[in-house]
Amino acid sequence: MKRSAVYPGTFDPITNGHHDLVRRAASIFERVVVAIAGNSHKAPMFSLEQRVDMARKVLKDVRGVEVVGYTGLTVEFAQKNGIKVVVRGLRAVSDFEFEFQLANMSRHMSRDIETVFLTPQEQFTFISSTLIREIATLGGDVSQFVHPIVEAELKKMKRV
Ligand SMILES: Nc1ncnc2c1ncn2[C@@H]1O[C@H](COP(=O)(O)OP(=O)(O)OP(=O)(O)O)[C@@H](O)[C@H]1O
Ligand SMILES: [Mg+2]
Repeated sequence: MKRSAVYPGTFDPITNGHHDLVRRAASIFERVVVAIAGNSHKAPMFSLEQRVDMARKVLKDVRGVEVVGYTGLTVEFAQKNGIKVVVRGLRAVSDFEFEFQLANMSRHMSRDIETVFLTPQEQFTFISSTLIREIATLGGDVSQFVHPIVEAELKKMKRV
C-alpha cells in the first residue's frame, strides 16, 4: 500500500502556511489527502465547497495531493480510507497544548493511527486562517499570506 497521510483542518481559507505544510508532507508521503472538515464548531466564513475548491486550485502544483471534504471524526475518515498517519502543524508553543490533546484523543479512539507534526518555514509561523479573515475583513492586505485566488475570494466576501 502507498504510504499515505491525511492532513485535516478547516482551511477557512487555505493559507501559505497550510501550503508549506502540504509541500513538506508530500515530500515524505506518497499520497497526502487534505481533508477539509464540513462539520466545524467554528462557523466558517467560506462554505465547504468554496474551501475545497480554493484548496484544490492552490495545491494543484503539489504532486500526490488530493483535496476532499469530509464530515464526522477524522480518525474514522482515516480508517475508511486506509490511512494510518495524521499530519498536523505546529506554529508555536501555543499550538502544542491543543494539538497534544487532539493527538492523544485520536490515539485513544484508534490505536493504530499515528499523528505526525510538521513545522513550517519561519516566515509562515504567524499565519492563521483566523488572522487572515480578520485582516481581509478590515480591508488589510493579505497578499503575502495567501494565494492570489484566495485573496480574490476574500475580497468578494468583503463586498457581500
Ligand atoms: N501557518 C501554519 N503553519 C503550520 N501549520 C499550520 C499553519 N496554519 C495552520 N496550521 C496547522 O494546520 C492544521 C489545520 O489548521 P486549521 O485549518 O485550523 O488552520 P488555522 O490557520 O489554525 O485556522 P483557524 O485560525 O481558523 O483555526 C492545524 O494542525 C494547524 O496547526
Ligand atoms: Mg486552528
